[in-house]
Amino acid sequence: MPIAQAIEDRRSCRVFTDQSVPQETLERLMELTCRAPSAINLQPWQFTVLRGEEVPRLGKKLTRAYAERGISCGPDNTKPLPDIYLERQKELNRLMGPAMEQAGVERNFINTGSLVFYGAPAVVVATLDGAFPAERALDLGFALGWLLLAAQEMGLATCPVGLVCSYGDIIKDFLNIDQDRRVVLTVALGYADPNSPLNQVRSPRAPLDQVVRWY
Ligand SMILES: Cc1cc2nc3c(=O)[nH]c(=O)nc-3n(C[C@H](O)[C@H](O)[C@H](O)COP(=O)(O)O)c2cc1C
Repeated sequence: MPIAQAIEDRRSCRVFTDQSVPQETLERLMELTCRAPSAINLQPWQFTVLRGEEVPRLGKKLTRAYAERGISCGPDNTKPLPDIYLERQKELNRLMGPAMEQAGVERNFINTGSLVFYGAPAVVVATLDGAFPAERALDLGFALGWLLLAAQEMGLATCPVGLVCSYGDIIKDFLNIDQDRRVVLTVALGYADPNSPLNQVRSPRAPLDQVVRWY
């Protein structure tokens, strides 16, 4: 598959089938992920791959923590968001709303679904070594981009799930990850349910003249 096609075709999957991902497929995927570039080739990442029953077990703990702490999906902005971003958020909601209705899921589905990784059979938890500042999460961003596109090429569906990073302490505890490490992102991984209206949503992108400047 040409890389451009993988880029065009990839979208976040929010309903997975229960088909498990073969171990060899996961290993190949992680090899390709780790071919990503990083500053000074430090490769400051570590990936923990959960499979099978471990996924719903973690999901249960996260759901309990959500009930106690109530931290939801959000942009984590430190200043009020300019209108242009609010409009993009609204545009996504305008597309997701009818798909959620059609799929018959509850209004809070993006939060509750994220906490259980949308029923995916595998999850990758990406952590940054605590020796580094938050800026080095950039290197993990490259690797995770590689992961998403390699998965696409391999016929796998993905959804980056950032919400659960607000519950990083629970994840680290569950997976015996060093408390010093930062949970940067998780990715739900598996096979898309092709019949779910939620998986038909194709999120739009801003026109180039909004995001690219030429000199
Ligand atoms: C860093 C990051 C965190 C994200 N966190 C979540 C999440 O917690 N739950 C979720 O359903 N989607 C999450 N997403 C998926 C985005 O909502 C999605 O990428 C965006 O709406 C664009 O849609 P697309 O991936 O289908 O192109 C996240 C994406 C990124 C890059």
